[in-house]
This record gives sequence, C-alpha cells and structure tokens, in this order.
Amino acid sequence: MKKSFLSALAVMAVSMTSAQVTINIDANDKGPQVSPVHYGIFYEDINHAADGGLYAELIRNRSFEDGSMQRHRRATPRKPISAPIEAWNTVGNSSMALVTEGLLNEAQHNALAVTITKAGDGIQNEGFWGINAVKGETYKLSFWAKSTQGYEGTLTALLQTEGGQSCAAKVTIPVRLTDKWQKFTAEMKVDETNPKEHFELLADKAGSFEVDVVSLFPPTFKNRPNGMRRDLAQMLEAMHPRFMRFPGGCFVEGQGSPDNAFRWKRTIGPIEERPGHLNVNWGYRTSDGIGFHEYLQLAEDIGAKPLFVVNVGIWHGGCDPYEQIQSWVQECLDALEYANGDTSTHYGALRAKNGHPEPFGLEYIEIGNENYNFHMDDNSDQSDHYPERYIQFYQAIKAKYPYVKCIGNVESWGTDSPTWRNNYPVDLVDEHYYRNPKWFADRFHKYDSYERGTHQVYVGEYAVTSQFGDLGNLNAALGEAVYMMGMENNSDVVVMNSYAPIFVNENDARWRPDMIRFNAHQVMGTPSYYVQQLFSNNIGTQVVKTDYTYQLPEVKATTDKRPDHVGLASWGTTVHYKDAQLLVNGKEVSISDFGKWTTSSGEWKAQQGEFVQTSTAEPAMTLAPTDIKATKYSFRVKAMKESGDEGFMVVVGYKDKNVYQWYNVAGWGNTQSNVEQANGGGRMQLASAKRMKVENGRWYDLQVDVDGDNIKCSIDGESDFDVKLQNSMMSGVYASTTFDEKSNEMIVKVVNVGAATAPATINLANFQAKSARLIRLSSASGEDENSLDNPTRIAPVTEDLKVKKQDKVTFQVQPYSVNIIRIAQ
Ligand code: AHR
Repeated sequence: MKKSFLSALAVMAVSMTSAQVTINIDANDKGPQVSPVHYGIFYEDINHAADGGLYAELIRNRSFEDGSMQRHRRATPRKPISAPIEAWNTVGNSSMALVTEGLLNEAQHNALAVTITKAGDGIQNEGFWGINAVKGETYKLSFWAKSTQGYEGTLTALLQTEGGQSCAAKVTIPVRLTDKWQKFTAEMKVDETNPKEHFELLADKAGSFEVDVVSLFPPTFKNRPNGMRRDLAQMLEAMHPRFMRFPGGCFVEGQGSPDNAFRWKRTIGPIEERPGHLNVNWGYRTSDGIGFHEYLQLAEDIGAKPLFVVNVGIWHGGCDPYEQIQSWVQECLDALEYANGDTSTHYGALRAKNGHPEPFGLEYIEIGNENYNFHMDDNSDQSDHYPERYIQFYQAIKAKYPYVKCIGNVESWGTDSPTWRNNYPVDLVDEHYYRNPKWFADRFHKYDSYERGTHQVYVGEYAVTSQFGDLGNLNAALGEAVYMMGMENNSDVVVMNSYAPIFVNENDARWRPDMIRFNAHQVMGTPSYYVQQLFSNNIGTQVVKTDYTYQLPEVKATTDKRPDHVGLASWGTTVHYKDAQLLVNGKEVSISDFGKWTTSSGEWKAQQGEFVQTSTAEPAMTLAPTDIKATKYSFRVKAMKESGDEGFMVVVGYKDKNVYQWYNVAGWGNTQSNVEQANGGGRMQLASAKRMKVENGRWYDLQVDVDGDNIKCSIDGESDFDVKLQNSMMSGVYASTTFDEKSNEMIVKVVNVGAATAPATINLANFQAKSARLIRLSSASGEDENSLDNPTRIAPVTEDLKVKKQDKVTFQVQPYSVNIIRIAQ
C-alpha cells in the first residue's frame, strides 16, 4: 500500500451500489442484565474545571495565594511582597502588596495590604478571564478586612467594564475597621448583562487596610452555598450520571510533594479555613473551594453515586515507603467516616456541622490512580509496590465498611489488555484508554471474551485523544459510541465507565479534547458529550442479542500527495542538534544550514554548526527547507540535551501541524521512547513504549528511516523501533439493543462510522411495535465539530418513525451517525 495520510484533508469518493442495513432482534434472546451504574462521569480538577469552572466563585485568587507556583507560607515575614498579584490590580493611585503576618488564620498564607491616597481609589479583580454579570440576578459578596490604623468610611463594590464605561452592579458597605479581622457581606443586584466585567472595591477616603478571602457568588446550582455554576452543573445533570468519580486523575496524586496532592481534610469547612494547594499536575493553584463535602453534595444533587479516588502514598515524582502508609490508609478511612458515619462519630458529626446530617452513602473507593504500571522498582511511573499498598487499603476498608466496593488500578498505558497481576481480592479494576477513533470502533467485541468470574471492570477513563480535530470531532464520538455499545453488551463484566476529562476553560486548556468547553459565559458540549448524554439517557435494563448485516456503498480515500518535510523538536527542554543529514532514495540532500530552517515554535538558534533550542515550549519545532517527494528517505542527526524535562524528537512525514510523525526519545518526563503519529488532532503512539532516559551533556546519534508507511528508528546505531503508520479511516455499521423493563421499550442503537448512507430495517420477533422514535446525532462530515459560537451544530435531533407493521421498523442510516431507536409496544 502506498503511504496515505487519511486526515482532515482526505477526500472521500463514494461509489453507489445497493445498500441495506438489516437488524434482527428477538425479544426472547436475552443477554445479561444491564449494569445499573452505566453510565457515569469522571470529574477531575484539570483545565480550570473547578476554580474558573464548575465552582461558581467569580473572584480569581480570592485569598491572594495564587501566582508563583513556588510561593510558600510566610516566605518573607514582615516584608510586603510587591510582585504582580495574580488577577488583582490597583484602581487610581492606590498601592497594594501581599503581607504574610497578622493573617486571618493558619490556613491563610497571605493577605492584601491596600493603601489609598484619595477617595475613589481601590483594587480590582479581573475574575476568571472576565466576570459574567447577568441582569436581574443577585450576587453574594463577602470579604474580610482589618486596619491597624483604624479606618472608618465606606467600601464600594462594583461590577464594571475595564474602563468603567458600563457598570452592571454596585453596592456600598459602611465599614469601621479595627486591628481585628471582620467579615463583611453584601448583596449586589445586577442591572446590566455583560460577560466581561471586572470586580472593584473602592474606598471613599485615604487610608490603609488589609483584605482577604474576597468572594463573590452568583446564584448557584440548586442554590447551594459555596456551590456550582448553574449552566455547567446542568450539563452534568442532563447526562443523568449514575456515579461520579472524583477528584482525579493525576490531581489525586499531586506532583513533587504529598502537599500538592488532594488531601480531603484540608478541603472542608468555611472557605477561609481552606489553605488550597498547588495543582502542579495541571499548572495552577486550586482554592479547594470545591472540597470533599462539595463533591459529595454535587454527586447527590445530580443523582450520582460518589466514587472517591484515594492516594496510596504516591505522588508524581515520589512516594512514601509502602510499609509506612498507615496515615494514608487512615485518611481514607476518615473520609469514609465523614461520608458515611453517623453523627455520633467524629467525622460524621463534622459532616453534620457542615450542613449534611444524613450520610452521603459513599460505596465506591478507588485505591490509587494509575499506580500499577510496570516500574515497581524505581517508581518512575508512580507504581512503587502497588499491590502491597492496595491490600493495606482493601483490608482496612473491608474490615470497617464491608459494603464498599474497592476498585484497583491496572496498567494505564503500554498495553491494550491490562490485567490484575496479583492474587489479592478486588471488586473492580479500572482500565484507561486514550486512543484514536478507529481503535475504539475496532474494539466493539473487546469484552466478549473477557474472563468472567474474578472481578468486574470499570473503564474509568477513555476518550479519543488523537484524530479528534481541534476541540473534539464527530469521528471521535462515533468511535467512542461503538466502544460503549460493546461495554453495554458485556454489562455482566464491564459494569461502569466514564469518559475523561469533562471540563476545559478555553482560556487555560491543558488537555485536549474535553467534552464540555466553556468561558465565563458560554458553554458547549462536543459530539462526545452528546454521545455520553444520549447513551446514558437511552439504556434499558436487559441486553437483547442483536444480529445485523449491512451492505454499504464503497468509500475510497484519496492519498495526501503533499510533500514530506523532516524536522527537529523538543518538549520543555534545551537541546542541541548537529550534523543533520537527509538521504532521499540513497542520495544526500543538503539540509545542514540551520539558518534556512523554519521555526514553527520555540527559540531556535544556529550557532557554531549546532542548532540550539532554549525555550520551554511544548513542543518547540523547526523544519528543514526541503520538500521530499519520494516515499523513501533517511534522516540522521546528533542530539545533546543541556537541561529540561525530556529528551529529543526527530520529525518525519511532516505535512502540516496536524499531520506528521516523530521519534520521541526519552519523552514523558525523560522516562520512555516511542514513535508517535499526529493525524488530524493529537498524537497516537505506534509502538509499546520503551524505557529511556537521556543524560545531559551526552551526544546521541539518532536516525529515522521512512519507507512508505514503514518507519524505523535507531539510536547510537542500535535499532529502537520498527512501526507502521496507522490507516485510520473508519467504515461500517454497528448495532446493539437493550430492553427497558420500566418503559417496556426496545432501545436499538445503530452507529454508522463512515460516509455511506443506507436504508435500515429492524425486524422484530416476540415484540409488537406500536410506535418508534429516532434520536440521531449526525453531520455531513466526521470531522465536523461544535464551537462556543455554534454549540449545537452537532446535537441530537428527534423524529417519530412511521410504524407500518408490528414486526418492522425502518429508517435511513445517515453518514457519520449515532441513531437511537426507541420502539414502544
Ligand atoms: O484525564 C486526564 C488524565 O489522564 C488523568 O489525570 C489521568 O488519570 C490520566 O493519565
């Protein structure tokens, strides 16, 4: 086969032949009972999912703790810190500085000292990329203040645009400040709608004072105090999730220190008593305003069972010895007591004090996140002695809470068939899959042959993360839909699943794609979101076996004829490259003059025969000038790492920023190598990863040989990888059925992952159809996406189908479509 890149640019040619989809369903031919906990959600504080996202707080850096990831408690006692203060500015001639003494309480690390020289001056907060003011609503303001010199006057709070042209809300609060911290509250009635307001706090005379924990809440989901942003919580509620896994993900593990992990006890109680922590994994600080209690409350409010992921004494970059994790086990038991204990228990009483006397009913604990990979000896993949850690938690949990289901980790990368590699008892194992659309569609039958009888499976994280386009396209959703049908069919073994991740604030995206995208005032679901929503809302109680056949018009893909380029890249790393050599069909083509290369990202400098990249860009990439029209070529280069996070990337097959491959040497934090293929959004790994760590200051010889769709990579003359590019075009139809004992409906799911269209007939036995309704998610192209400005370009539409015969339902299968046919009898 000629090398072909079936990407966003591929053009489909459809040749018309007779087409038909036939689906045969016998209501008496039953499969397993449907798991009552399909489908759920996985909530992680990633991409500002909490602060600046689901958490309704409108003031960014309300406690003056954000900013430098290195800022430590009382780092410079007495001396005010006058560096820029994240999200805060002065108004007029006032000045402001952080102070670290005389604080509100032990949880606070900083307060803001403000000096006013004239009436009308003050401070301003820009919110999370703007504050959304909505006319007619009343926002709740609170802040703490004190003044060692005494201050008597008024403070006026405003919501207004940067230049003050429009003012959406205003309230004046008389204050008499003393040297003791006092809390002030006020309501702000919004008179104008504007999504990009700022918050201001202005004084009516000169003086100085300190403020802390400045908080502003709009009305929240279900009117909970310290609650959730309504539009985002409603998106979750509309999914009708049966469970909610929280609070991560890597967020549970933390990075660099156990202090940067989610420690639930620091996240409960009044907001001013929560220290917050550095969310190093995802690059910002979190206030822990959504804390353990709020997660449990949210789960209850959306009708989901809570599933809490606990830390097993491992964080990214370190761990406590496995024989010394009793405090982590106790932390987990205390969380269970907080959630489930009666009010006579210490933590049960605390829960009641925090507003929820009834137990929350926490029935699922996941023991660790992605902590059972392969490197049990050096913990380079956060897996130190996982089984030994796991069993300590399992035994302690089961001894006190025998009804709690314990979920264990299995390999989260490097294999398509992760297994529980020990003899300890486990209720469920958590599998994670981030792959391309075709990988998912090809695994419709993955669980048909899964061994039954030992434990059940929770697919806790899955999503298309390559070839998803920009924000998440329909192809991604189609692949996932097919996989979900396979999980439904195997409900006796796969009992739970959840897509990942959910949220992204468009202003600080750390992970793509995510199924709900938002800014301060807009929100959209990707096609994947709608698939999750549709499947969750259209699942019966009993699997019914579904026989189906299809004949579709042939769909051919054209080859991407654009020339290849080679290039070099790095990821958060300062690297030196030299002696670049390109051989096309065995003949050398000169590319050694780095001055002629084109930089697409990063800081590249040609110096003394070397090409040096010094930025921390991820990636930093540069391309050689030569157009390569041949399909066979070799690219050699010498590489040396000076400093930074990772190793080297040698780029081949580059056609545009979404279509290329690279030999990634010591990527993933300088731990492993692989060959990755970018093809229409994201990258997929083409081989099983190999352990690799590069040394600083040492030169490595790297070579990539391209021959059609075959890529060979070698390092220092030794072969490292021999892989094939993946042909990723999907085609075909998939069908599955569940019967709903409550509504007495047959719910048939039909997914067409390709460009063809065909009439479909559902033949029914032992079931008399009276009416039928089709719910369809489709678009003209699998590469179509939603956007914040066009959020429902791809969204479900419903139509009633005419039922002419009791044993037949017909409809048209559209290209690129998810079809749910609810047939009532
Ligand atoms: O979902 C995003 C991340 O992917 C999660 O934090 C982690 O568990 C996985 O690696």
